[in-house]
Amino acid sequence: MVFNLFHSFTLPLIFALSAAGFNNTVYLISNAETPSLGLPGLTPIGFQRANDCLPALLAPLDIGFIVTCAFDPESGHCSETITTATPIGNALRLPLNTTCGADEKTDDDCVHNLLNSFSLTSTQAMLVVWDLSDFDSLFENLDIDDDFPGGDDEDDDDGDEVPHFDVLTTVVKKKVTAQVSQGCAGIDGQAPGTFRRSLRRHSMKKRQLPKRMIRRHRKIAENRHQKGNPLSPTLN
Ligand SMILES: *[C@@H]1O[C@H](CO)[C@@H](O)[C@H](O)[C@H]1NC(C)=O
Ligand SMILES: *[C@@H]1O[C@H](CO)[C@@H](O)[C@H](O)[C@H]1NC(C)=O
Repeated sequence: MVFNLFHSFTLPLIFALSAAGFNNTVYLISNAETPSLGLPGLTPIGFQRANDCLPALLAPLDIGFIVTCAFDPESGHCSETITTATPIGNALRLPLNTTCGADEKTDDDCVHNLLNSFSLTSTQAMLVVWDLSDFDSLFENLDIDDDFPGGDDEDDDDGDEVPHFDVLTTVVKKKVTAQVSQGCAGIDGQAPGTFRRSLRRHSMKKRQLPKRMIRRHRKIAENRHQKGNPLSPTLN
């Protein structure tokens, strides 16, 4: 009851706040490697990543909040996200916040609202550990623009981008500012004796906003237009 009253009176205010967004850095990683054929748990490499690499990698990044998702039996998403995030949480002495699921019932804005609520009381960075196969929805729900200068802007809607477990993505103000390999010793990067294929086709590819970003921006632009908001984003 109290919540409902609060909600109806402050909805425009909350909209204004969330539209303004937060300044806290958000780090995104996926679950570590999982076995084939639906076997539970992590692979030996995934276990090594989660336990021997990620906690040390993330410890210096001033992370104050960890968001991850619990296993959703229906979609099969998030089977090993908690397993991956637990050693990090232990090392940083932070609980894992699993309020938002990767299921149909969870509101699309859940993770954004959760991050936003933490940002109201802290300037510390936030970590999201999410299912690799659900990253596209996560990016869309967080309204993240991954078309960053100098970055790998391969349009994954083309379906020719192979997802990788070792990527650490940094997001500031809904923009991807860095995407690097976690560089875990002995398991990431190129093995000795392997070749780097020509990147010619890739670099010649026309830079373009992923289709989902365009859809999302159109939707926001339309909403704002209807509300007469002068901050409507423009598409080029
Ligand atoms: C974010 O930083 C800008 C300055 O870069 C500041 O004007 C704004 O108030 C900050 N927003 C929040 C929510 O702290
Ligand atoms: C998750 O974080 C939110 C926002 O800080 C907080 O209100 C909530 O209690 C947390 N939930 C758990 C289970 O830690």
